[in-house]
Amino acid sequence: MKGVILAGGKGTRLDPLTRVINKHLLPIGPYPMIYWPIRRLKQAGISQILIITNREDIESFKKVLGSGEQWGVNLFYQIQNQKGGGIADALACAKDFVDDKFVVLLGDNLFDENLRPMIEEFYKEDYKAKILLKEVRDPERYGVVSFDKNTHSIHSIVEKPKNPPSKYCVTGIYLYDVDVFNVIQELEPSPRGEKEITDLNNYYIKRNELSYDVLKEWWLDAGTHESLYKANQHYYEEIHDTR
Ligand code: DAU
Repeated sequence: MKGVILAGGKGTRLDPLTRVINKHLLPIGPYPMIYWPIRRLKQAGISQILIITNREDIESFKKVLGSGEQWGVNLFYQIQNQKGGGIADALACAKDFVDDKFVVLLGDNLFDENLRPMIEEFYKEDYKAKILLKEVRDPERYGVVSFDKNTHSIHSIVEKPKNPPSKYCVTGIYLYDVDVFNVIQELEPSPRGEKEITDLNNYYIKRNELSYDVLKEWWLDAGTHESLYKANQHYYEEIHDTR
């Protein structure tokens, strides 16, 4: 299985830090943010990884990460033509890279879970998409599921709702079948002009083709100043504990 990390976008919630540095290259512990999702893919047995980012940032990524040899993986790079065109628009750029079921990580999602069991499960399932959820205190910041835990079925996902239907947010860890590229092509941009990952996942929900699992370990979206600080705290504690 191959992995794709989305590392484009504008990073506006981290302004002014992101005016000259791409969000995913900001320091978290002793490494740039994107190092951590790469490490998780490697842990899950995935060594072929495509990084998708903005045209103006791609050389910086190559300079920092190179071929990936230093990290024990093979890294490939692709430009998202429309900066901030949406998460699904960025994902569409992976079309020529994947040829089988694959994993997608949002590059600002940091987590402790070993993804291997979920990946193995997705391989065996007939579903075309899988999302991973996390119970959070502030669901209104994320995509939130309305679901029935007893029947293990998701009714829908709402993006940043004022009145969240549950405490479970959709993390930026997704698994798809190659069919996803046909679906993205048909997606209409949302009113804010982005091809939305939530619209994509709702498409699969409507067809009963989406499964889910819930993360048990630490997870964080490092896209704000406060969460960036918390992520640093988490990894420095981890480094300190293993010394
Ligand atoms: O972190 C989980 C959340 O991520 C989900 O719960 C939401 O459903 C999902 O929409 C997303 O919300 P955010 O508001 O955090 O999305 P953001 O615009 O910050 O983008 C998330 C990542 O996707 C970021 O690491 C950069 C990448 N991205 C984003 C856009 C808009 C791209 O590569 N290209 C893009 O055009």
